[in-house]
Amino acid sequence: MYVKTLLIACFLLFLGGNYLNAQEYEYIGAAKCKTCHNKPAKGAQYKQWLGTKHAKAMESLVGDEKKDPACIKCHSTYGAVDEDLIATLKISEGVSCESCHGPGSGYKSNSTMKSREKSMARGLILPTEQLCLECHNEDSPHYKGFNFEEYMEKITHPNPAAQ
Ligand code: HEC
Ligand code: HEC
Ligand code: HEC
Ligand code: HEC
Repeated sequence: MYVKTLLIACFLLFLGGNYLNAQEYEYIGAAKCKTCHNKPAKGAQYKQWLGTKHAKAMESLVGDEKKDPACIKCHSTYGAVDEDLIATLKISEGVSCESCHGPGSGYKSNSTMKSREKSMARGLILPTEQLCLECHNEDSPHYKGFNFEEYMEKITHPNPAAQ
């Protein structure tokens, strides 16, 4: 009996510990990134993204498709994440910055962002092909195949000042 109680106590402690350690960063939306990432000298990432099909992905859906979890899970950052973690992200943003770079609430401050190490410790992701394949795959009813180099060229948004 005592052993059983002890085991249950340990299990609850384990669950509680994990819960406290879990980093639950929130999604803040592209407008927030724009405040710092739209300067031409640094690559104007916001403007570049706005000109891609990612930013217009919700416009491809019609009627009830705009609410259908089976479509918005790929066509909007909003559709793929836990609603409790949505701060100022909008569904209309489509495939927004945070689908690829991770939720921004933890890394968005200037002092954090200046350090790659600090930013990554607070949720920033520098994505690779693996991440693209989460949406560019045969679960997509309009899948056209995926060539990482060719597709990257169409969405690239480097910072010339960082090279
Ligand atoms: C308060 C200003 C600020 C905000 C807001 C901000 N950033 Fe940054 N970010 C920076 C600065 C400063 C750098 C360092 C490079 C530079 O000077 O542009 C940076 C760098 C980055 C990098 C490159 C990291 C590396 O080491 O290669 C990524 C990716 C990035 N930001 C994404 C985002 C995303 C996505 C958002 C919105 C969720 C965002 N940032 C919001 C200021 C900001
Ligand atoms: C969250 C899902 C998601 C992720 C992650 C994602 N994409 Fe996409 N991508 C889409 C959707 C949805 C579209 C179609 C948008 C539309 O036209 O409605 C698309 C369209 C594109 C297009 C335009 C294709 C065309 O027909 O012209 C390119 C290029 C592209 N993605 C590149 C990439 C690359 C490179 C990555 C990884 C760095 C990536 N995508 C990651 C969902 C995603
Ligand atoms: C697994 C992710 C995924 C799902 C689920 C998904 N899409 Fe897409 N969709 C994409 C990607 C990625 C593209 C871009 C086409 C490409 O390059 O493969 C796209 C493109 C499109 C296009 C543009 C077609 C074209 O020829 O460019 C339409 C319309 C579309 N999707 C509608 C839908 C609808 C409606 C649903 C729900 C029934 C849906 N999608 C579900 C990922 C997805
Ligand atoms: C479809 C995925 C995708 C989306 C959407 C996206 N990015 Fe990126 N981003 C990338 C990839 C891939 C890289 C290159 C990562 C690397 O340098 O290893 C990158 C690099 C960057 C860099 C670093 C550039 C450099 O040369 O140092 C910044 C800053 C950045 N993104 C900001 C943004 C912002 C702001 C948005 C939204 C307005 C955004 N990104 C949307 C995939 C994406």
